Amino acid sequence: PKITYVQPSGSSETFEIPIGNSVMQGAVNNNVSGVPAECGGAAACATCLVYVAPEWVSRLPARQLLEESMLDNDDPKYAQLRLSCQVKVTEELDGLVVEVTAL
Ligand code: FES
Repeated sequence: PKITYVQPSGSSETFEIPIGNSVMQGAVNNNVSGVPAECGGAAACATCLVYVAPEWVSRLPARQLLEESMLDNDDPKYAQLRLSCQVKVTEELDGLVVEVTAL
């Protein structure tokens, strides 16, 4: 499945990410900047935070409680927030677009 990573500047890169990887791993393995993923995928650091493109929000599996607890309720784009380490790549996610956040 192809995943597109958009930078805050507007530039974007698209990569083929293996099924079963997380969206975060796909970014790290392809040297996408803005995804330091400091905790290595444990939902503990929030440095893998992304904004999911609006049309994709309802197409992703729901957040788990641990992920939910790391997200900022006050963010105006809260509905689009995900920890990319908690989103597993599946065939259904082909074409997913996420914007990395500038931390
Ligand atoms: Fe740390 Fe996702 S990599 S929360």
